[in-house]
Formats: sequence, C-alpha cells, structure tokens
Amino acid sequence: MDFLRIDGGRKLQGSVPISGAKNAALPLIAATILSKRPVHISNLPDVRDIHTLLQLLDNLGASFHYRDHQATIDTSTIQSTIAKYDIVRKMRASILVLGPLLARFGHCEVSLPGGCAIGQRPIDLHLRALQQMGAQISIKSGYVVAEARKGLRGTTIIFDKITVTGTENIIMAAALAKGETVIINPAKEPEVVQLCQVLAAGGVEIEGIESDELRIRGSEGELLDLGSFRVIPDRIEAGTYLCAGAITNSQVTITDCDPNHLDAVVAKLMEMGFGIKRDRRSITILPARKIAPVHIVTSEYPGFPTDMQAQFMALALMAEGTSIIEERLFENRFMHASELMRFGANIQLKGNVATIIGPTKLYGADVMATDLRASSALVLAGLAAQGRTNVHRIYHLDRGYERLEGKLAALGAAITRLRE
Ligand code: UD1
Repeated sequence: MDFLRIDGGRKLQGSVPISGAKNAALPLIAATILSKRPVHISNLPDVRDIHTLLQLLDNLGASFHYRDHQATIDTSTIQSTIAKYDIVRKMRASILVLGPLLARFGHCEVSLPGGCAIGQRPIDLHLRALQQMGAQISIKSGYVVAEARKGLRGTTIIFDKITVTGTENIIMAAALAKGETVIINPAKEPEVVQLCQVLAAGGVEIEGIESDELRIRGSEGELLDLGSFRVIPDRIEAGTYLCAGAITNSQVTITDCDPNHLDAVVAKLMEMGFGIKRDRRSITILPARKIAPVHIVTSEYPGFPTDMQAQFMALALMAEGTSIIEERLFENRFMHASELMRFGANIQLKGNVATIIGPTKLYGADVMATDLRASSALVLAGLAAQGRTNVHRIYHLDRGYERLEGKLAALGAAITRLRE
C-alpha cells in the first residue's frame, strides 16, 4: 500500500493548475446513458473514482475510450442494468446510474451503497422521488431493484433536505420522463448546474437552473444528443491548494480554476488575514501578517462546503486564538480531528462542533487517512509540521486528487509517494 512522506516546515511558492471536478464529471459520465450517440468529455480528472465509474459503465456493456483526461463513451451497447456490489462498494457515487438506467431501460438494480466513514448517508430521498415518478422500488438481497416498465412520469418533487447526488439522479430521470418534473429545493452546486447545462444543450428543456425550483420537460423516452463538453474545474481541489498556501503562509497561485465557485472559501481565508488576488481564471493567496481564528458552519452551496471542512480544521491550528467549526451536513465528519491531534493539535469535539485552540506548534507524525477530504487535511498539517510525517492509507486521496504529491512538489514541498 502506498503512503506519502512529507518533510514539513517549508515555504511553498509558484502556481498549480486545477484539474476537472470529480463531482461534476461523475454525473456527466452517468448522463451518457441518456445519449443516443457517443459522448466526448474532456478535462476529466485522472483520479480513481472516474475510472471506477467508467469501469461500471463497461460492466453494463457500454464501451469507452479514455486517453489523457478525455473519454468518448458509447452507451448504445448497454446490455445489463445491474450495478454490482463489487463496484458500488468502491464508490458511493455509483448510485448516480440509478436515475438514468431506470429512465432509459425501465429497469435497474443497483447495489445499496451502505454507510461510509463520514456518516450513514442514506439514499431514501433518491428512492422516494423516483417512486413519485412512478417507479416501483424494492430492496432485495442488498440491491435496490427499480422498475418503471411504462416509463417514468413527471411530477412535483419536494426535497426535505438538499441532496446533491439525489438532485442529479432525479434531473437525469426527469430528462427522459413523460411530462414536466418540478424539483423544489434542489441542490444548486456548480456540479449540478453543469449537469443541467449539458442536458439542456442535448435537447432537454430546463428552467430555473441555479434557482430553488427546477422545471424539466422530459423527452418521453427519446434519447438525447449530448455531443461533447468540458468538465468544470474542481473547486474543492482549488480550495485545498489555497489552504496549502495558507497553512505554510506562502504565496501560491491556483490556475485554471473558476474563482466564482470559491467565494465562501476565499471569504474565510480573507477573514483569517490572508491576502487574495483574483483574476478571471486564477486566484493568488498571499501570506497573513497574523493568522486570525475563524468560525465556520458548513452548508449547501453557495455556503461553506463540507468538503473543505477538514482542510480548514488543519489551517485553524495555525490561527492565534480559538476557532469553531460546525459540521451541519454529515454526522460523523470529524475523523481527522483525532489524527490531527497526533501532530500536537488541541481540538475539542462536542457533537457536530469542533473547537480548535491555536496556535499550535505541529510536529511530524505517522497518521492515517480515513476519508477523501480528511486525508488532504493530514497532508496540509504535514506541510506545516516540523519534521517528518507519513500519511498512510492514501488510497482515499487517490480517489479524488490528481497527482497530489506531484502538484505539491512542484510548489516546493518535500513530499514523496512510497510503498509500505
Ligand atoms: C455529494 C458530494 C460530496 C459532498 C456532499 C455534500 C458527489 C459525488 N459527492 O455527496 O462530496 O460532501 O454532496 O456537499 O457529488 N441525505 C439523506 N437522504 C438521501 C440523500 C442524502 O438523508 O437520500 C442526507 C445525507 O446523509 C447528508 C445530506 O443529506 O446528511 C447531504 O447529502 P448529499 O448532498 O446527498 O451528499 P452526496 O450527494 O452523497
């Protein structure tokens, strides 16, 4: 198993290009199931989750050609509508094939994704919405079995809670349904917006994109023509590199990003005393004279993203004073706190609130990654710590960060990938 070795305490400098967004690419790949012709997607991040979903499509009988961040996917040859346990267990987001498979074939079986390190993560909202659209759903031998032999029909769906992949699943299902689907309280994340834009360009009438009410006029089973498109930049990867600049109090520029998607993250960095220079496609973080503590409450977009919470907990260790982080989306997303304490952090946890008492002098340690974003927080702490850090179980990182060690090394970090 690979691990990362970091010799910390160095300043970073230079610029780092941001890859395509994993969480935008996943629903877009799933949406190719709705297309009558091969679809070409560029700016795909070269990360494990993307290859897992391509493999899932391949198992269903689709064919794809992947090379250098681009894939051409042909789903006209799909023969199976069963997403097996072996793949779904590797990646929860496999549930994204549920909506499009059901909409196109009137049947599908997807292994239940189950819980994960950051919480229970049910899919009840996805299932209830599909039932409202006329699907019959049962759970058999660990699989969600969904049937809609006469096709799905549009209806009004009110999400009690905002769900990103739930919204995406229903948007894709609605694209081929009969009549109009109204989604009230949808997720408005940029990744959801891109899915809507791609489907709209492929012939689906969608109103209310980026608003609290989406109206989707379905094609009554007629397949779409999705053509070719480019995945938007990864705002979480971008935020993570801004934090790498911040935690080492260095000047770092992130390029090929969309600064508009990073408002909440940039606002918190500025509150902490860092300078920010924004351009059309880049952001530069400048060192702070004094790093101020911060109060963060995670919420849905455009609020502060839960996927940046762990990185800011690491950063808050450097602040002069007490920072508070409230995690509102996932019930168990503080697994990184106990690992950060191995560096010498002073963090108190009470329910969904973490109190971080800074500033802390961090010392390198052996630590273990527990989930994707928690892993990047440990890498950040390793960059700031004095001495050597080994981050173990980095297969989590490989799910979502492309060439993390290469990009950080190019900024001047002493980081290498080694084998246990
Ligand atoms: C997506 C992102 C993930 C991010 C999360 C929140 C992808 C592939 N993943 O995950 O990186 O951390 O959004 O921004 O895009 N919930 C239910 N029932 C459901 C669905 C969700 O109770 O049927 C709850 C969840 O447990 C959680 C909250 O709703 O508490 C939000 O989850 P959701 O937005 O669905 O997260 P994902 O789409 O799984």
